[in-house]
Amino acid sequence: MSTKHDKPDTVIVSAGRMSDSHFGAVNTPVYRASTILFPDVASLAPGKQLYTYGRRGTPTSHSLEDAIGALEGGAQVVLVPSGLNAATTAILSVVSSGDHMLVTDSVYGPTRHFCDTTLKRLGVETTYYAPNADIAPLLKPNTKVVVCESPGSLTFEIQDIPAIARAAHARGASVLMDNTWATPLLFDAHGHGVDLSIQAGTKYLGGHADVTIGYVSANQSHAARLKETHGNMGLAASGDDCFLALRGLRTMAVRLKRHQETATKLAQWLGARPEVARILYPALPGDPGHALWKRDFKGACGLFGFELKPVSEAAVAAFVDGMQHFGIGYSWGGFESLILPSHIHRATASFDAKGPVIRIHAGLEDADDLIADLELGLARLKDIK
Ligand SMILES: Cc1ncc(COP(=O)(O)O)c(C=O)c1O
Repeated sequence: MSTKHDKPDTVIVSAGRMSDSHFGAVNTPVYRASTILFPDVASLAPGKQLYTYGRRGTPTSHSLEDAIGALEGGAQVVLVPSGLNAATTAILSVVSSGDHMLVTDSVYGPTRHFCDTTLKRLGVETTYYAPNADIAPLLKPNTKVVVCESPGSLTFEIQDIPAIARAAHARGASVLMDNTWATPLLFDAHGHGVDLSIQAGTKYLGGHADVTIGYVSANQSHAARLKETHGNMGLAASGDDCFLALRGLRTMAVRLKRHQETATKLAQWLGARPEVARILYPALPGDPGHALWKRDFKGACGLFGFELKPVSEAAVAAFVDGMQHFGIGYSWGGFESLILPSHIHRATASFDAKGPVIRIHAGLEDADDLIADLELGLARLKDIK
């Protein structure tokens, strides 16, 4: 059991353990359940039985919720089948028809698509703001929520979350943040004024590229609406996925340290190469977000970007295609390294790149092997240019 005085690295090891209920087994097993049986009619009364129906939770999902709750320090955690669903559920828990939202222009692409399609159809208006904008003048009387993501997807701008939260709360708007990059270990979302903190557990929680899961953590004032929305939409995460996410969580702290160490080496090496125009990684001194990152974050993960000096698409393909250790894939947060050309869509003029932008996830391989791979890739790029 973890206590409220324990440090986060201890919490992720000890929280949500229920060995007493599982014959001493360290890990809560996978409960596969739809039907839960009641001993008698009297037990059907609300509150009489802890478990009532599979969708409403099992010991496996409760173990994960408890562990996340201890780490996030909010008032309510709900588990959902994906990170995208964490964003959509959190948004739907606060907006109604006729409301307005401010959404960072650096938001995860599919969340943006949800705002531009489903929410638009439901009569919710979205304005995209530059990640570093002063949001105060952009708030309208009907602005219900300010959506943040720090650092931003693909472009890695760090946002001043405490300043955003102060401005939003002064006008009665809620603050929602996608905290997947930092995880609750490296950024304390609720502690910095975030009302609804969302996490694609698909990334570092799972950590092994084999699970799709998400969660939302709400503070006290947003807990009831979140719980109600989640229940009304019939959302649940599978027992197997909860088990895998909980197993991943136990080792997340050590993995993150190594991901940061390797990403830093790769980013520094790339930053010194003549083919590279700039690095997008707030953990590096010189990054425009570095001072805010140092003030608010406890570390960095393995995901960063870089802008190449202008080259042809064929040269980018030659660079990316021949990699030995970097897979080409959309996710990140697993043990393996990934590389991906980035396609950036913006409503504001907040990001400008003259050359192609590439995203790297630094995995747990040896950093020197990864650097050797990148070096060969840059040689291929130069051949085509
Ligand atoms: C920042 C961020 N948030 C959310 C998601 C969505 O996660 P999922 O794929 O589990 O829906 C992703 C996926 O890449 C992401 O990068």
